[in-house]
Amino acid sequence: MVADRLIGPGARVLAWLSPDAPAPPRATLPRELTLVDREVVAADEEVVSLVFAHPRGAALRAWSPGAHLDVVLPSGRMRQYSLCGDPDDPFHYRIAVRRIPNGSGSIELHGLRPGARVGIHGPRNAFPLTLAGHGSSGPPGVSLSPGGLPTPARRIRFIAGGIGITPMLGMMRAADRAGADWSLVYTGRHRDALPFLDEIACYGGRVTVRTDDEDGLPTAEALVPTVEPGLAVYVCGPPGLLDVVAARVAHAPGVELHHERFAPPPIVDGRPFTVQWGRRGRVFEIPADRTVLAVLAEADPAVPYSCRQGFCGTCKVRVLAGNVEHRDTVLNAAQRAQGDMLICVSRARPGETLVLDANTGAAVTDPPHRTRYRVRLARAMPKRIRLGGVNRVP
Ligand code: FES
Repeated sequence: MVADRLIGPGARVLAWLSPDAPAPPRATLPRELTLVDREVVAADEEVVSLVFAHPRGAALRAWSPGAHLDVVLPSGRMRQYSLCGDPDDPFHYRIAVRRIPNGSGSIELHGLRPGARVGIHGPRNAFPLTLAGHGSSGPPGVSLSPGGLPTPARRIRFIAGGIGITPMLGMMRAADRAGADWSLVYTGRHRDALPFLDEIACYGGRVTVRTDDEDGLPTAEALVPTVEPGLAVYVCGPPGLLDVVAARVAHAPGVELHHERFAPPPIVDGRPFTVQWGRRGRVFEIPADRTVLAVLAEADPAVPYSCRQGFCGTCKVRVLAGNVEHRDTVLNAAQRAQGDMLICVSRARPGETLVLDANTGAAVTDPPHRTRYRVRLARAMPKRIRLGGVNRVP
């Protein structure tokens, strides 16, 4: 999950993290929370909301709309979920999880019952609402965009695909309380697959629900009817949805696009290189269109990862030899100089062999046992946009 901000004209895309985003979570131990409530929130019964609290009832860290948690499951897997409760409730965090067939993380979360314990890192906000009083906002009455630049946005269009409604819930609540001019279009394959329909009914005409089975696949015009200066678009959903929306507003002057991804961004200018796991370990060829993480995870599903977008730090390994082409947004110069590498995004030049420290990350054993690489979303997206029924990392 990463928030990119794109402001026309010129289709400028800035990978950006909230200034208050902390260091990668592997540097700290997770804090423990207790599951106190579990509720099915979609008619197809494939989405549950999970409410967590401090084991002794203490107040939790404050968060702002768009924030997410890194959730460390009892199995040790770590997954990220948007917070979708009320930021004004200091005692509870709520997330929602769609069950993905064969999705280890989502199935494990669906199996939790009240009383279960999980670890968390965060909250962190990589998708802040740039509304006065929220996210990276500035003084009262002044809306600031990420990085502190004044935003001209006077109107907000929220776009959610399926489980992508989760970060929008807090944003809609905040926009509504602030008296902002906002609307939401909520899309999916069919209504039964859309969580929280009851909860958003209170917003009346501001919300449009459209489903593929009743309305057909959404067009760009249906998602963003009017493109004009002063518009801020917030979109969360599968890659196809983001692509359609980005194409709609990319060259529009004075329009902001803020989005949160479900899947890793496409590899740009990828070239093949080689990775060796340990000084005497296995050698892996990394094709131009795959990441080191994808290749290693195929050999060993226990390779740790979370965001797959170069900002959480979970997949960090130490490089013993070779030159890294860093593509993450987290590691500082000192970390890079000491050989740290985020294998979900960073690469090497063609012909280079990176020797990775086998004592970092997970063991990649020989002989390998094959497993399917877990980018279900990319595989699931046909040429035309298909919405709903997806989750971030299953
Ligand atoms: S998995 Fe998050 S930085 Fe690599």
